[in-house]
Amino acid sequence: MERESYLGVATALAREAAALLLDHQRHGFAVATKANAIDLVTDADRASEALVVAGIKARFPDHAILAEEGGAQGAATANATPRWIIDPLDGTTNFAHGYPFYCCSIGVEVAGELIAGVVEAPALGERFTATAGGGAYLDHLGSRRRLRVADTADLRQALLVTGFPYDIGARGDAPFARFTRFVRAAQGVRRDGSAALDLCYVAAGRFDGFWEENLKPWDLAAGSLIAAEAGARFSNLDGDAYSIHRGDIVVAPPALHPAMVDITRMD
Ligand code: IPD
Ligand code: CA
Ligand code: CA
Repeated sequence: MERESYLGVATALAREAAALLLDHQRHGFAVATKANAIDLVTDADRASEALVVAGIKARFPDHAILAEEGGAQGAATANATPRWIIDPLDGTTNFAHGYPFYCCSIGVEVAGELIAGVVEAPALGERFTATAGGGAYLDHLGSRRRLRVADTADLRQALLVTGFPYDIGARGDAPFARFTRFVRAAQGVRRDGSAALDLCYVAAGRFDGFWEENLKPWDLAAGSLIAAEAGARFSNLDGDAYSIHRGDIVVAPPALHPAMVDITRMD
């Protein structure tokens, strides 16, 4: 099936990119800034993206690509042309500090639907994958298991995760007000620095829920399919329809999701 063969290509490329990330981690890399002083990019981000994009172009020259560092190439998803959505290194700040919570994320979208995705976290030794309708899986230490979200329904028993955009210093108080409310209501809240892995951890039932604002399609594509295939429910912060192209997200097991939206809606 097409989605399985796309997943096979995505997984092979993510694995190569992961080896390259580890290589940079061992042998050193240069760090530069992008939009502001806390928005980092490294040699490893660029080299990983070049590897993945070249691999896709070599196999599927007519497919579209949306990659973080290089932007959009080829047709949009209004037609049935597959589009590969790539975050070559999600968790760049973590990577720059040697904190192992980072990954390469590759999703495949056809006519606006995600059909395959992989999130490869080399320093954790974990690979999360999913195909639409085919379930979500974690490969770790030679074993493979199907993923299912937690069955937590009570916010007081929930371990949540969130993140903050790089322009947080220029934003108003709303993100901090939400954070405060969740810290007071939940069992615990983490800020772990990779949205793609945050989604996979919700899929694995390690985190019960995740919320964030202003994310980009490459942060969300593969991880959203993985969490959806593990049974997660999605919305934006207002409780309305979620899209990887809009960037606000609340994701949790179905029984917990309404209690999270009660907080993120801020009314
Ligand atoms: C970032 C991470 C982080 C999130 C930021 C993203 P990057 O992506 O996913 O967890 O809070 O908003 O931009 O820059 O490491 O690819
Ligand atoms: Ca990212
Ligand atoms: Ca990135």
